Amino acid sequence: MTQDELKTLVGRAALDYVVAGEIVGVGTGSTVNKFIEALAAMKDRIPGAVSSSVASTERLQALGIRVFDANEVGELAVYIDGADEIDGRGYMVKGGGAALTREKIVAAQSRRFVCIADESKRVDVLGRFPLPVEVIPMATQRIVRQFRALGGTATVRLKDGKPLVTDNGQHILDVTGLAIREPLAFESEVNQWPGVVTVGVFAHQKASVCLLGTASGVQTIA
Ligand code: A5P
Repeated sequence: MTQDELKTLVGRAALDYVVAGEIVGVGTGSTVNKFIEALAAMKDRIPGAVSSSVASTERLQALGIRVFDANEVGELAVYIDGADEIDGRGYMVKGGGAALTREKIVAAQSRRFVCIADESKRVDVLGRFPLPVEVIPMATQRIVRQFRALGGTATVRLKDGKPLVTDNGQHILDVTGLAIREPLAFESEVNQWPGVVTVGVFAHQKASVCLLGTASGVQTIA
């Protein structure tokens, strides 16, 4: 199976976790796009969705799925999203699509996080994928130095030769050279650095369930 087919497989499998009659939290990325396509078949059985990005909102609305503001609704039953890396404990690195801040917000508002990913995302130790960190531009160079002190190399993510601007009007640093062996402690520490909006380690908002697309089908890791 191709990576695209694996994404389709887990995108469809995630429908089993959508609760009829309840608003669903929706993440961002190419795997979630497969889920959104599949969700269209269920649109008459749910009131709608809370979305984690402008891109997902546009896709949901194009399929006739209502999108609610996070502040209009209470706790969500489930949040469905992809990951750039996931370890055996459900800890993840996210933000390859630059939507990490809103993803963490919607994940925090949800009782369950269902991660959908193809098997290439499974790692033993987080850090192989460059760690995305959303930052306030004024603090960029100090945060670069703080990562250097931890052994990481942080670079500003560019788009068309200029710093990429997130849905929240901020910038993204991508950090290589880290081996994140204690994701909870790491996330807590980096969250304290002035100017950090969101660090792409999802340990406090880890996956409750991971649907991993493999050559032999969907593997459910709970
Ligand atoms: C978006 O900001 C990310 O957190 C995505 O969830 C992550 O990058 C996975 O994306 P893909 O499904 O496209 O690999």
